[in-house]
Parts: sequence; structure tokens; C-alpha cells
Amino acid sequence: MQTERITTARAAARILNAGGLVAFPTETVFGLGVDATNRAAIERLFLAKGRPSDNPLIVHIGDKNDWHRAASVLTPHAEALLTAFAPGPITVVLPKHASISPLATAGLDTVGLRIPNHSIASEILREAGVPIAAPSANQSGRPSCTTWKSVIEDLEGRIDAVYCEDSQAIGVESTVVDCCGPVAIVLRPGAITLEQIREVLPDACDLAKSNSTETEQLGHVSLKARSPGLLHPHYQPNAQLRLVDGLPGAEELKGKNVAYCGIGAPSSSQELSLCAFYESVEAYAAGFYEFLREADRQSIKLILVQKAPNHGLGIALLDRQRRAAGE
Ligand code: TXA
Ligand code: MG
Repeated sequence: MQTERITTARAAARILNAGGLVAFPTETVFGLGVDATNRAAIERLFLAKGRPSDNPLIVHIGDKNDWHRAASVLTPHAEALLTAFAPGPITVVLPKHASISPLATAGLDTVGLRIPNHSIASEILREAGVPIAAPSANQSGRPSCTTWKSVIEDLEGRIDAVYCEDSQAIGVESTVVDCCGPVAIVLRPGAITLEQIREVLPDACDLAKSNSTETEQLGHVSLKARSPGLLHPHYQPNAQLRLVDGLPGAEELKGKNVAYCGIGAPSSSQELSLCAFYESVEAYAAGFYEFLREADRQSIKLILVQKAPNHGLGIALLDRQRRAAGE
């Protein structure tokens, strides 16, 4: 199969409606879309990505008023979050609608619902007219893609089409929030921070920090089991990746095939095979996955990654960095 290069929403929608797999840009990373009601198409998607079948997909819609196409109930927490942040980089987990294939939700009775804030994605979703399940458009386990050429690198010949446009992306995926229980729980940190969520829902908490017995008492039965995707390897380049606080001395790097990325002004980098110094945490997040991929293109052996600051958008970036390092 040849992967078609497309540049119109109409072409994307035509392929999606025929059960095809189309990669398209969103404001976070590229998604690999498929009709969420079409079982055979979803089966192909899991095969194309090499994705474990117990990892549920996020279902995307073009307009928040259409939530009822993917979910059976809009809980007050979800309504509050969508009013505040949608369209945008947030995914609300809700009881699923019967029309969404159980393959898309990995057999869970819930669905992750997201309304992207990106003109091309929105146009494709509206034109397709069906809920679109879309995981990140990369080979399972690899870094996500923020350019269509990276999508091609991973998935050429395995998907029907890719939308050829690179728009400036946030670079970390959406914040996933379980909105089914008495308190909202962040299952995956993302571009919308916990602080922002707490401005709307002051009791919201974070899976990593929440005391599991406490949340179970609150009615969230075995949250880890409800989001099994969290347990698989993610975002990993071929190169070995090590988290560091800053650039090591030249002596330590000499003669080794090492890459470095971090925040700050370019400094003594002669001993590095590849480096990137970003001016802000936003720029770091936007460039991180592509940097890992570039290191692989250059057959770098070791990537030294400066840890992102543990606040704001840095929390989501640090989470991706830790997973990329296999922690
Ligand atoms: O920004 C994003 O969210 C991107 C773009 C393409 O929308 N998508 C994305 O999809 O990152 P993916 O498949 O790489 O990650 C989906 C995450 C996984 O952690 C999965 O476990 C969680 O969402 N998830 C999906 N449905 C869920 C559900 N019903 N319950 C709990 N977690 C769910
Ligand atoms: Mg992914």
C-alpha cells in the first residue's frame, strides 16, 4: 500500500468514511484517525501502529455540542472542563456511547473525548461527520510526531494517507482527566496544567500524587486498571536516554557520540554530536520529540536530556522525558 499525501479536509474525510487511516495535525501532536464506529478500521489501526490492544484510543469530535456522539452522559466535571478548555488540549473520560466500538476503548465502559483546537483537524472532523478515534501517529512506543515527515518515517505504507502540513504544535499530548467519579482525576498530565484545572474544579487531583486508597474510597475503582495505556513503554528513541540537570563538562563527552537538549543559552558544545538549547519551556516541549527523532536519524548512541522544570507545562514535559528514559 502506498501512503497518499493529501492537502484537503475533503480528501481526508473521504478516506476516513471509507474505513481508511489518515494522519493529520492537531495542536498537540499528529493524530492517526479512523472512524470510531468502524470495527474493522480500528483493527487495522492497532496493527499499523503495533499498539497493544489494551490501550484505549481518544475519540475526537469537531464541536463540543456533539459530545453525545461519543459519550452517553456529560458529567458536571466534564461539562465544566469543556466549557473552560474546549476546543483545546484536554481529554475528558466519560461513560461511552454504544455506537463507539469497544475495540476503540479497549473494552472499557468509558471513552476519552477530545475536541482539538486546530483548523485542519476541526475541518476534517466536521467534514467526516463521525467520531474519529485517533492515537498519536507514531509506531507504538516511539516518540510522538510533530511533523508529517516523521509520520512517514514511522508509518509509510502502513496507513492510507497523511495530511501534509506542519503547523506549530504544543508538542506534548492532551491532559487526560477522568470525569466519571466524585472528583476529577488527571490520568495523564498535559498541556492544560492541574493548576488551570483546579481554577475550575478546586478538588481535582492527580493520579501520580493522589493516595490510591483515598481515591478508591471516593469511588474510583482501580484507576490504573482503568487507564492501562499508562503501563506500556512510550516516547522512546532507539538511542539510550539519560536525564540530567545540566550539560556535563567537555571531558565527560569527549569522543562519545552524544546529543544534548535543554533550556538556556548555547554553551560549550564542541564535544557534542547534536545539541539544542531552547529559550523557554514552551519551545522545549515543542521541539522535544523531533529532537529525539533527529538523534536517531544521526545514529546517536546517548541522548542527555535536561529535566524540564517541575511546574506549569514543565510537569507534562518531565513526565514524557521520564517515560522516554524508561523510568
Ligand atoms: O493530544 C493528544 O491527546 C493526542 C492527539 C492526537 O489528540 N493523542 C494521544 O493519543 O496522545 P494516545 O493514544 O497516544 O494516548 C491516549 C491516552 C492514553 O494514555 C490512554 O490510556 C488514555 O489516553 N485514554 C484513552 N481512553 C481512555 C479511557 N477511556 N480511560 C482512561 N484513559 C484513556
Ligand atoms: Mg501516544
